[in-house]
Amino acid sequence: MTDARPASFPESYMSGFANEFATEALAGALPVGQNSPQRAPYGLYAEQISGTAFTAPRSHNRRSWLYRIRPAAVHKPFKQLPSQGLVSDFSSVPPTPPNQLRWDPLPMPDAATDFVEGWVTMAGNGAPDAGTGCAIHLYAANRDMDGRYFYNADGELLIVPQQGRLSLATEMGRIDVEPQEIVVIPRGVRFQASLPDGQARGYICENFGALFRLPDLGVIGSNGLANPRDFLTPSAWYEDKEGDFELLAKFGGRLWSAPIGHSPLDVVAWHGNFAPYKYDLRRFNTIGSISYDHPDPSIFLVLQSPSAVPGVDSIDFVIFPPRWLAAENTFRPPWFHRNVASEFMGLIHGEYDAKAEGFVPGGASLHNCMTGHGPDAGTFEKASRSDTSTPGKVGDTMAFMFETPVAIKPTQFALETSQLQSEYFQCWQNLKKHFSPTTK
Ligand SMILES: [Fe+2]
Repeated sequence: MTDARPASFPESYMSGFANEFATEALAGALPVGQNSPQRAPYGLYAEQISGTAFTAPRSHNRRSWLYRIRPAAVHKPFKQLPSQGLVSDFSSVPPTPPNQLRWDPLPMPDAATDFVEGWVTMAGNGAPDAGTGCAIHLYAANRDMDGRYFYNADGELLIVPQQGRLSLATEMGRIDVEPQEIVVIPRGVRFQASLPDGQARGYICENFGALFRLPDLGVIGSNGLANPRDFLTPSAWYEDKEGDFELLAKFGGRLWSAPIGHSPLDVVAWHGNFAPYKYDLRRFNTIGSISYDHPDPSIFLVLQSPSAVPGVDSIDFVIFPPRWLAAENTFRPPWFHRNVASEFMGLIHGEYDAKAEGFVPGGASLHNCMTGHGPDAGTFEKASRSDTSTPGKVGDTMAFMFETPVAIKPTQFALETSQLQSEYFQCWQNLKKHFSPTTK
């Protein structure tokens, strides 16, 4: 039993977004000049993992070649597990109320719970079978995945840690993430999560549709928003480990378990552009108005999952990071609005500038299609009177939004949990009538 690196090996990443990476944990493990030689170096097996259709345009085609100790096919048959709190079929959830909804954070579990056991589905739309939509989960865990490995065939996982670091050992290398960073694990890539801080909590967007990509920048130009060089993909790492282990799969909306006699994290070298990556949200180049008003929140777009309709994304991942507000004679917090899009928000850190209280780190809110929302009464009164002749800073915050073009349907759990704030609507009830037809 040997690990390629000791546990204390420093983090090693390659920079760029969906690049044609090439990496090997053993010198010479990566074949040169062809993908599948008759005999791969070191007695490795060659295996391709495809994340897009074979015929996808070259600019969107994602696949990687893995050189591994054993092929992914080597495991015993899967058996179905209870689905715990997971939902992937949003046609069967209770009717979605057009109310503003907000939740307190999920408590940390009392019982020993690993990363995969700790998921509960809050909301979503579409389905894995439909190839569009998403499931939004919360996770809360307090133990490492010991002897257990997991992959998700239903979609890629955008993981947003809120409390506690995650150390993810994946087939393609190790990734450590902390709150205010995100990590994306592609569909099918096997991994194991451990918790360096003993417990961890956060949000997951399970993307059933097109892979997340960086948005075009249009008139912004060639730089700005999330810059490709800040996305980090792990260098190859492997473990050569045998034992009675468990391979977990999420497939068809259900959880499955198979015995496996070795660690599936046995990829010694790989090349390609289908791989996990992480990104530090604090590196986002935030762009806004320097005259008056403010742009639509699409200006804060980090990643998008495009739909078949040009200009309409099936998921937008948007953040509200620290930023200067310089717009003059302008109501500076987010305005009152109703959107054709539906918005699931979370708060990673600090305070969100449209709410005086009640939206706390680890909490969540859902404002569905055409549901009116915006700043609460306290925020409105304060911002209506603030001095806008000098810039102000929203300094200590990191909020985010999963935005979709169709309604986001909360699960039965989300509608019945004690974390649901039944009095959320009250935050707008104290908005006073200021109208006077004789006073402009
Ligand atoms: Fe909104």
